[in-house]
Amino acid sequence: MASGKIIIAIDGYSSTGKSSFAKLVAKGLGYIYADSGALYRAVTYFAYTNGFIDDAGNIDKENLAKVLPRIEITFRTNKKGDSVTCLNGSNVEKYIRTSTVSAHVSPIAEIPFVRDFVNVMLRRMGQDKGLVMDGRDIGTAVFPNAELKIFMTASAKVRAERRLKELLAKGEKATLQSVLENLNQRDYIDSHRQKDPLTKAKDAIELDNSCMTFEEEIEWLNNILVPNFNLKVEYSKEA
Ligand code: CDP
Repeated sequence: MASGKIIIAIDGYSSTGKSSFAKLVAKGLGYIYADSGALYRAVTYFAYTNGFIDDAGNIDKENLAKVLPRIEITFRTNKKGDSVTCLNGSNVEKYIRTSTVSAHVSPIAEIPFVRDFVNVMLRRMGQDKGLVMDGRDIGTAVFPNAELKIFMTASAKVRAERRLKELLAKGEKATLQSVLENLNQRDYIDSHRQKDPLTKAKDAIELDNSCMTFEEEIEWLNNILVPNFNLKVEYSKEA
């Protein structure tokens, strides 16, 4: 049985509940949680607000490549204890979760130099292990040697309903149809891009959480963690 800190890589399609699950797991283990999607979203927000993406969605890659090394993306813990994404020192958390950013993020994330830029930051976070990271290529490309890899799935209907609820709660105008279209479009681009496409790692364990509560997900995980890694997630309602 392995012991000591490990890296848990969680991959899967859009809105499969990866971040909620990853946050709970990190909290229950006293590990760091890292949302790799937030970095791609922050790059997209930067590109959009600085005119590198036009109204038709065309990306000025040449000029984006020149300025990208000068931007800084960091995570900070706010007063409520939540991790927030900062772009050049400013909290951009609420701006990176909008439908506008969701509409442009996958074309940005398929650009190889963007992935290289983000991967350097992601790998740095794993230097001391004790990390739970979610994304699309964590178990395949970022940490191919992660001790535990989980691939999350859920039915399209459940995923769209979850995302719609989130957006409406934030006061955004969205319909089930518009959300479903965005999820399908992103999943297609994410799975078909040339560099590090979304795919289940050979050694990943699949978790379909369509009909599961958070508590059941943690119980499912503990059935793997306890015998294999001598680790146990204490479930707490608040992630
Ligand atoms: O929250 P949701 O699952 O919808 O997406 P996210 O994790 O915030 O990621 C947003 C987008 O970033 C994805 O649709 C991918 O295009 C991209 N992404 C990626 O390419 N690789 C990752 N490791 C994480 C995200």
